[in-house]
Amino acid sequence: MNDKLNDSASLERLEPNSMAAGQTPYSAWMQTDALHALQRPVSDHPGEHAWIVTVQVSELYWTLIIKEMQTAQRQFRANDLTQAQRTLQRIVAHHEPLNATWRSIAWMTPTDLLAILSRAVATYGKDTALQGWAYRQMVYLLGIKQVEHLKHFTPQPQRWAQLSQALAEPSIYDDVLAYLNRLGFAVPGDVLERDFAVPYRPSKAVEEVWRDIYAAPSRNLELQQLGETLADIAEGFSTWKHLHLMATRRTFGARPAYFGTEGIAWLKPTMDEIPFPELWSARGFIGDPPAACPHARK
Ligand code: HEM
Repeated sequence: MNDKLNDSASLERLEPNSMAAGQTPYSAWMQTDALHALQRPVSDHPGEHAWIVTVQVSELYWTLIIKEMQTAQRQFRANDLTQAQRTLQRIVAHHEPLNATWRSIAWMTPTDLLAILSRAVATYGKDTALQGWAYRQMVYLLGIKQVEHLKHFTPQPQRWAQLSQALAEPSIYDDVLAYLNRLGFAVPGDVLERDFAVPYRPSKAVEEVWRDIYAAPSRNLELQQLGETLADIAEGFSTWKHLHLMATRRTFGARPAYFGTEGIAWLKPTMDEIPFPELWSARGFIGDPPAACPHARK
């Protein structure tokens, strides 16, 4: 990998390539030759190409979502809700094709998967998708901060540093809460000024902020819209995890996975890791008491 590619992996913007001889404008801009040289099967299974493309496309969508979240953070810091909303809505859209990629490998039986994985182990050693930095950086940006995942990146010091930085910096949710605080909503100081590397602890006061935002159907409409867009993002992310869990059930069953624990048992608790916790818990109160309901308690 040359320095330029290293730069791209750390998510810096690359300069356009100059147009070399033997390129068309399309191939130079879209880097098609480089792109189509990236699929290197390890087995002779006819479905391995579909597996590789599915994972690589997912990787590209994760880095796209990271870039979008970083853009939205800059827009919140500039108090530009309109542009931040547009950026977040693009993330909602990106989750659709990302989640649809599971269709490309839905044909897999356990025999198919193991034929490919056994060759990958023989070629590269024991792998786990936990070694993928893009998914982890996206998850950190969504506000799910788990330091234990850094250990997979000790063989990649650059990635380890990149993820350590993402762990220690505010998530998109932290930027939303800081923005709401600047608007005058009472987000507690110990939520705003904390060690961002430590897992977020949901706060009753933040739940109250979301409840206030949604209190009247005709007030704070733009912020209610923001809440709905964040809920869509959390749903898109959780849907990916559900599809992944079902694919694991379908192709792997109750076998022990990377850590020696049963793969499904490892994955199930991650289903409860839903971003933006108070946006969800506040829904147990939003609309209470129903304005038009004759049975509402006074
Ligand atoms: C369909 C066959 C698959 C099986 C059986 C499977 C199995 C697993 C298991 C057991 C884990 C837990 C960690 C471990 O033991 O390695 C895991 C984690 C993960 N897998 Fe897969 N996987 C499959 C396909 C995929 C694909 C196609 C992708 C990417 C597009 C992927 C991405 C991930 C990610 C990102 C994690 C980390 C999840 C988290 O931290 O919550 N997996 N997978």
